[in-house]
Amino acid sequence: MKSKVLVTRAIADGLLNGLREQFDVDDSQQRDGPHAPGELRRRLAGADGVLLFGDRIDAAALDAAPRLKAVCNISVGYNNVDVAACTARGILVTNAPGVLDDTTADMAWALLLAAARRIVDSDRWLRAGQWHGMTFNDRFGTDVHHATLGILGMGRIGRAVARRAAGFDMRVIYHNRTRLDPALEREVGARFVGMDELLAESDFLSLHLPYTEANRHIIGAAELACMKPTGMLVNTARGGLVDEAALIDALREGRIAGAALDVYEGEPTVSPGLLPLANVVLAPHMGSATRATRLAMARLAIENLIEALGGAVPRCLVNPEALERRRT
Ligand code: DGY
Repeated sequence: MKSKVLVTRAIADGLLNGLREQFDVDDSQQRDGPHAPGELRRRLAGADGVLLFGDRIDAAALDAAPRLKAVCNISVGYNNVDVAACTARGILVTNAPGVLDDTTADMAWALLLAAARRIVDSDRWLRAGQWHGMTFNDRFGTDVHHATLGILGMGRIGRAVARRAAGFDMRVIYHNRTRLDPALEREVGARFVGMDELLAESDFLSLHLPYTEANRHIIGAAELACMKPTGMLVNTARGGLVDEAALIDALREGRIAGAALDVYEGEPTVSPGLLPLANVVLAPHMGSATRATRLAMARLAIENLIEALGGAVPRCLVNPEALERRRT
């Protein structure tokens, strides 16, 4: 008998057809949004594996899924999954790293440039009919070239962001839990600094670290107070890294010059205080949203699912501790 697999989002027909050859698939081809918790629990009830994007898998969802063996994220971040609860039940959890690095780095740059050169605010201003001819003393932005780019979190995405800075003749500094080896530092053109120096020196500070409880509000009121008043914050990582209330205060009071955000603390809710601010660019968590990248993410997640349900060790396993008690 084929294993049962729940797919929580619409994926490419070709990929779905491939899945159907191996599994009994409950698809979601007609939807493109997260499930309500009750609906997800109901759909998980008979599943051996789930391929998901953004949906929350918590202990209550797991309790409703007694056969579940594999939770395969179509994303690199997996803070939507209670990994400890999965491990305790012998359920393997996988993510989809590597295939979205360049696309997410492009997005960080798109946001950085949009904030620096006031693209979104100016677009709104023009559409509102306020442009009456080229101005000489208005619409001033911030120069990106020759500025200092600070990167917090120097994994694959952070490094891809750093490499792109060479085209803007920027100085790149970074802080990371562990320092890169010198050859890699040279290759990406970045200098390791302490957190204090990172905050004080960055003209643009871009976040590229995973969300964990330890990283929650790694950028809070105290950190924002250490940034330059001309500094800008870019977040394409996870909303919980930033204390959104403190950020709103800093932006309102002009203690930093701007921010560009793709992710939010209470996603999909965006703090109302952000909405009226002209010095913020807001995007709806779409850092990896290109067709080619989403296809690659889904393909990698499927490879993990096949490996996990086939009894192999999936290539992107995030909880190897679960292997010793894995469900069969
Ligand atoms: C990821 O892969 O983690 C992206 O943020 C999409 O969720």
